[in-house]
Amino acid sequence: TDPLRLGIAGLGTVGIGTVKIVQRHAEMLARRGGRPVVISAVSARSRSKNRDADISGYGWEDDPVALAKRDDVDVFVELMGGSDGPAKAATEAAIAAGKPVVTANKALLALHGQELAEAAEAAGVSIRFEAAVAGGIPVIKALTEGLAGNAIRRVMGVMNGTCNYILTRMEDAGLPYETVFEEARALGYLEADPTLDVGGIDAGHKLALLAAIAFGTRVAFDKVELEGIERISIDDIRHAADMGYRIKLLGVAQMTGRGLEQRMSPCLVPADSPLGQLQGGTNMVVLEGDSVGQIVLRGAGAGEGPTASAVMGDVIDIARGCDLPIFGQLAASLAEAVPALVTAP
Ligand code: HSE
Repeated sequence: TDPLRLGIAGLGTVGIGTVKIVQRHAEMLARRGGRPVVISAVSARSRSKNRDADISGYGWEDDPVALAKRDDVDVFVELMGGSDGPAKAATEAAIAAGKPVVTANKALLALHGQELAEAAEAAGVSIRFEAAVAGGIPVIKALTEGLAGNAIRRVMGVMNGTCNYILTRMEDAGLPYETVFEEARALGYLEADPTLDVGGIDAGHKLALLAAIAFGTRVAFDKVELEGIERISIDDIRHAADMGYRIKLLGVAQMTGRGLEQRMSPCLVPADSPLGQLQGGTNMVVLEGDSVGQIVLRGAGAGEGPTASAVMGDVIDIARGCDLPIFGQLAASLAEAVPALVTAP
């Protein structure tokens, strides 16, 4: 059988993690995907940079758009990040060339997901983005597959590892914000622009994507009521702890009589609750379906291995031929079904 040939754009934390899985598990991936999964070519900002994986056997492109268009690339794997610029141009080029896209880019999809979904639907290819939401936790697959028979009532959770790390370390170790921020950086949690993390924007992007999947609405990041953790002081954290609470950057999306409500903001949660117990860079997503009740998913929301794990899950789906346009289907069904989107009261 023909191999599935990947073009990987972006060789940062997640890109290298993905290369490592392909190299380490070639046989297993071939078995599970029903065909070999190989890397044809890669692109990144610098070719000569020292990397934690050997990429010398792959083709090279300076330009991710050229990578997306290569004849020996079947699937475009976008791990560059950035909501505009090369990531967007290359994703559009892949779709235009009729190639499915696997991406970890929540900013791109939160801001341009609708137009990309419509383009992908028209081209008959899928954009898969498990890695864009809650890192290693397969929450998109849980919603689109396992819970497909449920009307979803609510999704909520902690979806930014950096913020959770900072808040829990400030509380547990009594360390100042700046110190734990640097620790989070060393762990590979931070976005290239860390204000996306601490401003709640990255988590808001993820919530908007999750809400769109859960409720079958347009991706409406501009309707997320947003507040970050920059103004949380160690005193706030101590006062909360004295009362038996912890402060978490919590996202909630639910359908109300007025439409979809989406909010991402620091919240008090009981210290002994599952959310209150959530430590470090961990994420937790709580899904509520009308038949299943409540499901709690917990796991690493960032970092090399976990995020690459989600990328490869999507790649294997495509290798198996499960190339349904998840997002695209939404795009088509939306027009009639979407209730007015509102911000939270
Ligand atoms: N900066 C993100 C986080 C990375 O801290 O959760 C994963 O999206």
